[in-house]
Amino acid sequence: MSQLELLYKGKAKSVYLSENPDELVVIFRDDITAFDGGKKDVLSGKGSYNAAVSSFFFSYLEKNGIKTHFIKMIDENIMLVRRLEMIPLEVIARNRAAGSIVKKFPFEEGQILDPPVIVTDYKDDEHHDPSLNDDIILALGLLTQEEITYVKETTLKINRLLYDYFDELGLVFVDFKIEFGRLGDEILLGDEISMDSMRLWDKETGESLDKDVYRFEKGDVMSAYARVVEKMMFKK
Ligand SMILES: Nc1ncnc2c1ncn2[C@@H]1O[C@H](COP(=O)(O)OP(=O)(O)O)[C@@H](O)[C@H]1O
Ligand SMILES: [Mg+2]
Repeated sequence: MSQLELLYKGKAKSVYLSENPDELVVIFRDDITAFDGGKKDVLSGKGSYNAAVSSFFFSYLEKNGIKTHFIKMIDENIMLVRRLEMIPLEVIARNRAAGSIVKKFPFEEGQILDPPVIVTDYKDDEHHDPSLNDDIILALGLLTQEEITYVKETTLKINRLLYDYFDELGLVFVDFKIEFGRLGDEILLGDEISMDSMRLWDKETGESLDKDVYRFEKGDVMSAYARVVEKMMFKK
């Protein structure tokens, strides 16, 4: 990949231009970070796990009528995607209260949120990803009212599909974060869907099988990620 031009190096992935101007090459690196980059490590094989899980879910969502940027895998940790003009929003759906929402509001950790709660954060590390309401999204010109509705409805559909999928694996799909981007006048799901961007709890034991294992040093994060991948492989 050394001949390709680096477009963007993020906290966990590197994005390269490809020979086709409409397509990008995304490398899922082994870097793991938490707390706005305050905690950093390299975990061999993490990139491949996240790429495998992301590619599986992108295909799964496409089969269920959700438009995504996914084209194909080029290698274990390398994905070819459609180039999108990313919308700087982190769209978060929560089925249970955990993490920041428990710190900010009087929820009990693990409390069921039904209907699921959707929160939109501004993707801006400098300002620590502040939460936006619809009026601020409109005022910033990030989305139109119609697009806000589309993004939220699509997020709820994705949430339902993934919730049911993980439920069958004996896992609670606590919450997740996704990013969307524009392709012409369409909005597609971009970025990733992996254990770095979701919370998953073992239904029986309540154990975390996601990046919280790393954030809060709850054990070996690579074993946790491996358990999710194994459960998924066993199901397929
Ligand atoms: N299809 C796409 N087209 C253009 N940019 C994308 C696409 N999918 C993801 N991205 C962007 O590529 C970057 C991926 O790297 P990542 O390490 O996740 O970065 P970050 O530190 O910003 O979260 C993100 O900024 C994401 O918005
Ligand atoms: Mg990211």
